[in-house]
Amino acid sequence: MATPQTFILGTGIIGLSTAYYLSLSPSTPPSSIHLVDPSPTLFASASGFAGGFLAEDWFGAELEELGRLSFRLHRELAEQYGGREKWGYLRSSGVSYSAGKVGMGKGRRGERGEDLLRQGGRRGGVVGVSEVFNDENGPTWLKREEGDSMEVIGEEGSLAQVDPFRLCKFLLQACLSRGVQLHHPARAISLGKDMRDELSSIKILNTSTNAVSEMPCTRLLISTGAWSPQVFSTLFPGSKLKLPISSLAGHSLVVRSPRWGKQQEEKGCHAVFTTDEAGYSPEIFSRMGEEIYVAGLNSSSLSLPSLATESRIDESSIAKLKKTAQRLLGEEDIEVGRQGLCYRPVTRRGTPILARIEDEKLGGFGTSGSGDGGVFVAAGHGPWGITNSLGTGKVMSEMIEGEETSANISRLGL
Ligand SMILES: Cc1cc2nc3c(=O)[nH]c(=O)nc-3n(C[C@H](O)[C@H](O)[C@H](O)COP(=O)(O)OP(=O)(O)OC[C@H]3O[C@@H](n4cnc5c(N)ncnc54)[C@H](O)[C@@H]3O)c2cc1C
Ligand SMILES: *[C@@H]1O[C@H](CO)[C@@H](O)[C@H](O)[C@H]1NC(C)=O
Ligand SMILES: *[C@@H]1O[C@H](CO)[C@@H](O)[C@H](O)[C@H]1NC(C)=O
Ligand SMILES: *[C@@H]1O[C@H](CO)[C@@H](O)[C@H](O)[C@H]1NC(C)=O
Repeated sequence: MATPQTFILGTGIIGLSTAYYLSLSPSTPPSSIHLVDPSPTLFASASGFAGGFLAEDWFGAELEELGRLSFRLHRELAEQYGGREKWGYLRSSGVSYSAGKVGMGKGRRGERGEDLLRQGGRRGGVVGVSEVFNDENGPTWLKREEGDSMEVIGEEGSLAQVDPFRLCKFLLQACLSRGVQLHHPARAISLGKDMRDELSSIKILNTSTNAVSEMPCTRLLISTGAWSPQVFSTLFPGSKLKLPISSLAGHSLVVRSPRWGKQQEEKGCHAVFTTDEAGYSPEIFSRMGEEIYVAGLNSSSLSLPSLATESRIDESSIAKLKKTAQRLLGEEDIEVGRQGLCYRPVTRRGTPILARIEDEKLGGFGTSGSGDGGVFVAAGHGPWGITNSLGTGKVMSEMIEGEETSANISRLGL
């Protein structure tokens, strides 16, 4: 039988991680793996604009194994390929910060930190409510004021920080150097089947020339983040299944502070969760490369653009984030390096979908089983897609090969 050809739709961190691990599998030649993305600029989506904060165990039972696997893979990849230099991989500490004046009472935890923990359904709860930071181990770039408090969240060694944009770049480069094929800018427009009605080909539109080419394809992964429902419905028009994924927009800023530089990096990054006067819950991460990332402001009224590059930043949201940064960093003239708007793929249940879609749900397509064919989905990672990216890629590559998965994902099905 001919080598199965695998098409991975979407070059966000989920598609890239899957392509990366699949290219390491002895039974899949890298040249039989195809990445497809229509966005004129790569990484213009959530994976490029995310904070890049990683947690090992802030998850409920459904995600527990995947979270641990993923955290370990992040560490191993960074050790193996110099992740510290290449994508700013560094250990981090979690901080719940309450300003004295906001009138929340001393010792009250930042609500977003709480939210994050609850959203992940974290089992253990906040570590060490009595543990506090001192000037030595706390975030030196945060402006302290009278009556404020900083509490430790997360266990030592269970948090890390990356620059997700540079991690995506590394993964793509690693895939390409192994022989994985990239179709970009391009879009899958339809699928074809053989005499047995099994998935056998894919039509790819070159969006710069409008030329269409048809290529053999027996394995298909939909890892197009918030775009996954429309991608599935376009390719399987006969299916009644609607992938239960929607989008939640979020703005972000990258700023600099004279109090966060190379010297401070030696002591590790900090992830600060707090509550703002303006009624939202900022998340602020110090990252390598002397930058501080500010986000936490959701914009549920912004709907998904057809291309990631067509996102239109809302200036008032950026102004709000900037004001928060000025206040928390205590700098009037804050230097804004980059602003962003991107769309998290979210599910109602709060956990991603990592699954093979049953042939009966494909609306007229069959697939050959046991590693030779199949239609898969890996999307809906919500606020945790960078953290769970490598684990997802590993597990999806195993699922595509028809092998047992390295993490128990039995509760992440469709
Ligand atoms: C403000 C913000 C901060 C965040 N911070 C963190 C954090 O600190 N830590 C963390 O773990 N997570 C964080 N996240 C979540 C994380 O960014 C996402 O969960 C993750 O990036 C999702 O990755 P993805 O590959 O599924 O989707 P995406 O990154 O959205 O990628 C989807 C890709 O599919 C492509 N595509 C669209 N249509 C098609 C098509 N028809 N064919 C092929 N490709 C297509 C798009 O162009 C895009 O490249 C954050 C998210 C936001 C919004
Ligand atoms: C689109 O076509 C042009 C011209 O033939 C080619 O150079 C480019 O590589 C093609 N892009 C894709 C994604 O196939
Ligand atoms: C922001 O979005 C997150 C999910 O990513 C959610 O848990 C949180 O409640 C939202 N906050 C607001 C203020 O809408
Ligand atoms: C995976 O987890 C489910 C639910 O907790 C459990 O029923 C199942 O036995 C586990 N599978 C394996 C292979 O451990």
